[in-house]
Amino acid sequence: MQATAHALGPEGAIRQAKTYGDMPRPALQRSEDFQPVPDAERLVLDGDWSRGLPPCASCHGAPASEPPLVEQGFAREAPYLHGQPENYLALTLEAYAEGARKSDPMGRMRAFAEQLTPAERGALAQYYSSWEIIE
Ligand code: HEC
Repeated sequence: MQATAHALGPEGAIRQAKTYGDMPRPALQRSEDFQPVPDAERLVLDGDWSRGLPPCASCHGAPASEPPLVEQGFAREAPYLHGQPENYLALTLEAYAEGARKSDPMGRMRAFAEQLTPAERGALAQYYSSWEIIE
């Protein structure tokens, strides 16, 4: 990524970021083999304030079909997680929890992931990977 960013130069990188940022929000649907993951769903939509965890959806967005964050729509600050591979999400959350991934501004993801149990990280990975982008 470093070599690509360097080759783009500052203006090219801004243009590229704008291109992605301006892309329309993808339409999502639950995959056919979707199994409800209530623990993950609660963390995504409500968070757990007793542990200082805001809802994941407040930064990462939520599909229009998922109340109560319908109006909030597509996240701009943080990557969209729906439809990403389960293994990638699980490993990334583990890397944040262990402090091995340090890409998050102000260390917020590291602080959040540290508060999650391994079972919750697995459930969140399962939940987000159960969505498919349909257009
Ligand atoms: C306060 C905002 C905020 C909240 C709340 C939040 N995140 Fe994040 N998250 C971020 C930001 C910003 C990044 C991007 C870090 C970077 O640029 O690498 C990120 C990155 C991630 C990534 C890596 C995405 C990728 O494509 O590599 C995962 C996975 C993730 N968050 C999961 C979660 C989960 C699960 C929750 C809820 C338990 C959550 N986040 C709550 C802001 C947040």
